Amino acid sequence: MPAKAGTPEELAQRRVAGLLRFDDPSGHTLESFWGASLDNRPAFSPYGNRFVTGDLGMGHVVIPAADDQAAMEFYAGVLGFRLRDTMAMPPELFGRPPGGPPAMMRFLGCNPRHHSLALAPMTSPAGCIRVMIEAETLDDVGRAMDRCARRGGKISASLGRHANDRMVSFYVQTPGGFDIEYGTDGLVRHRRAAGRRLHLGEQADHGGQRLGPRFRRRGRALGWPGSRRRKPRRRARRRAPRRHGGNERSRRGACGDRGTRGQCGEL
Ligand SMILES: [Fe+2]
Repeated sequence: MPAKAGTPEELAQRRVAGLLRFDDPSGHTLESFWGASLDNRPAFSPYGNRFVTGDLGMGHVVIPAADDQAAMEFYAGVLGFRLRDTMAMPPELFGRPPGGPPAMMRFLGCNPRHHSLALAPMTSPAGCIRVMIEAETLDDVGRAMDRCARRGGKISASLGRHANDRMVSFYVQTPGGFDIEYGTDGLVRHRRAAGRRLHLGEQADHGGQRLGPRFRRRGRALGWPGSRRRKPRRRARRRAPRRHGGNERSRRGACGDRGTRGQCGEL
């Protein structure tokens, strides 16, 4: 893979000791740097928001990757990202003919955040589909959505909770042709074997990012991987709580099924 070192001007501009520039298989130019000069002054948002960054990185990005296999070989095999999740999505959402095989969206991570990078099987003139920024509270997200609506921002998807990283977010369009996903409450700890998980055609539990049952039904009809209906889990039988007499006051934990039956009904 050909890589170029940064020029002295570029290093000064980015305030780093060194950098390498190279292209991914879709032609996106990436820069890898080291020796960043740190600015320890705290950043203050004019709205008082605090953002979830630090060890979790700046958030996540969704980029187009028309060649799924080449992109996975590059990001997982060369750069060392881990596959955390795959979503089987309706092909027409990615500009492919309906009725064909599902389009696979890959979610990869490099820190405890569920994913820092997602690969969408499509092309995009902007070269980027979405950048996610995570705020600390749901109030921050709600207020940001209100500000976007008040100032004529184009909301591409209203609030919803994502099926895989559990992020509650909305999408707003930018003048650059990609979306900002503004969210909160994203999943941080993940299962080690999460890469084997496959979600079927539904990216959100509710809200404007939900695709709807029509896609899931069709996925089942076409036999997409992961489309089998899950068996409902058997509920554990619960013992009926032991009851007290009318005027008795119980001590906390003095009754029930925790091996303290003898105390039940004590005053
Ligand atoms: Fe996202």
